[in-house]
Amino acid sequence: SGNPRFHLSRRALLAGAVAMGGGLAALPLRGVEGEARPRTVLRAAEVERRLVPDQPAPSRLRLYNGEVMPVLRLRRGQMAELRLENGLPDEHTTIHWHGLRIPHGMDGVPYITQPPVEPGENFTYRFAPPDAGTFFFHPHCNTVEQLGRGLAGVLIVEDPEEPAVDADLVLAYKDWRLNPDGSLGPFLTLKGAAGPGTHGSLQSVNGLPLKGEAAPDFAVPAGGDLRLRLLNLDVTRLLDLYVVGADAWLIATDGMALPPLPLSALPYSAWRLGPAMRADLALRMPAEPGAVVELRNLRGTRPDLIARLRAAGPALARPPFVPPALPGPHLPEPRLDGAPVVPMAFETVATRSPAPPALAGLPFADDLCLAPRTLWAINGRTWPEQGHAHPPEPLAALRQGRSYILELDNRSKQIHPIHLHGHSFKVLSSSTDPDLPVHWADTTLVGPGERRRIALVADNPGDWMFHCHIIEHQETGMMGLLRVG
Ligand code: C2O
Ligand code: CU
Repeated sequence: SGNPRFHLSRRALLAGAVAMGGGLAALPLRGVEGEARPRTVLRAAEVERRLVPDQPAPSRLRLYNGEVMPVLRLRRGQMAELRLENGLPDEHTTIHWHGLRIPHGMDGVPYITQPPVEPGENFTYRFAPPDAGTFFFHPHCNTVEQLGRGLAGVLIVEDPEEPAVDADLVLAYKDWRLNPDGSLGPFLTLKGAAGPGTHGSLQSVNGLPLKGEAAPDFAVPAGGDLRLRLLNLDVTRLLDLYVVGADAWLIATDGMALPPLPLSALPYSAWRLGPAMRADLALRMPAEPGAVVELRNLRGTRPDLIARLRAAGPALARPPFVPPALPGPHLPEPRLDGAPVVPMAFETVATRSPAPPALAGLPFADDLCLAPRTLWAINGRTWPEQGHAHPPEPLAALRQGRSYILELDNRSKQIHPIHLHGHSFKVLSSSTDPDLPVHWADTTLVGPGERRRIALVADNPGDWMFHCHIIEHQETGMMGLLRVG
């Protein structure tokens, strides 16, 4: 069967193009269309599976419907019913629809928007996605481990108004903390939480391992127009996306359209994706059958290969390429004039409790004692020190319908991908990168010493999570709430 991530548009099907891809057999999770609302069941359960063939023992993964990075497709503005079944043996879970501007009760944050879903129980999410674009979903409970074991999926929201392309390819990047014996973890370490996060040992795209120059290979119609949807679903890794072999344009950030921007106009011709961030690229494939376009991550000593796109003939005859402008975004424009500026300072917490005397001096004593520690704060507040069920006072109270500017001030030595639930925001400016293009986002990277201004209309009532998406930072203090009402 075809690769589910390689979704051919009608135009490509009519042109008779055939897609072959990375070898995943499962079908995409396309909602079963009822009268009005597609219904889908997402069952979270443990699955034993090898991530690489030579593992001595399988890894204990936790997946939705037994699939690594399943792809769910919904229609913009159409009500959907998505039933989460918790088939996990031992812990509660929820689903957060990352980047979707949906009602508070559907946002999937335990204790804040819904009770956690206990093993054997279920919860039905009902919403009509207001924006077309590239999104994803993941648990908001024990996120560092549940996401680390594979619980995540891609959510594509389609809109018939979007320009036709010859191929629409989803690439979901994730690292696995795979040990030589096949076990996974540790998911939270003191070193990682206090530093940049813990990097996995196995890199993957769509669940397919990356090893040096060995990367998944996707056949794309030669001479055809490609929409590439890249998702960084890792909890730590930064990716600097760089394309070799074709001119590529950035056409959406975190699902939201922007006027097509050539990658070549950016510093190092690369666009940086932090954890949870997405980028849609448009490019025209070379016409020579067999020609290769490479997607690479510029970080590291040499750019790592993420995927190879191979032109598969016969070449399509297309008029000269114009990068397609996507419709939207359908977002309220913040009024900057007179908008209050709300400071948000991201800091390291100076005091740390030392390991208890009984453990002091043991190797890894620090890691063993991490749980109660707090390493990070936003405006001096920390959470989940007293547990996820006990949030501190909101960091700010925003009046519904008003425009605000948040000034994100990173006073720490680490970079932080800062995410706000329930809203998209406009990234206005950076104190360290004067060339940063204005763009919409739900997650934005703030570097050490950087002040970054973002603007939004606070139009979605509720208490909304505001946190770092390096989950080890989130779990050690860097999360809070913004109240809109
Ligand atoms: Cu994807 Cu609260 O996050
Ligand atoms: Cu962080």
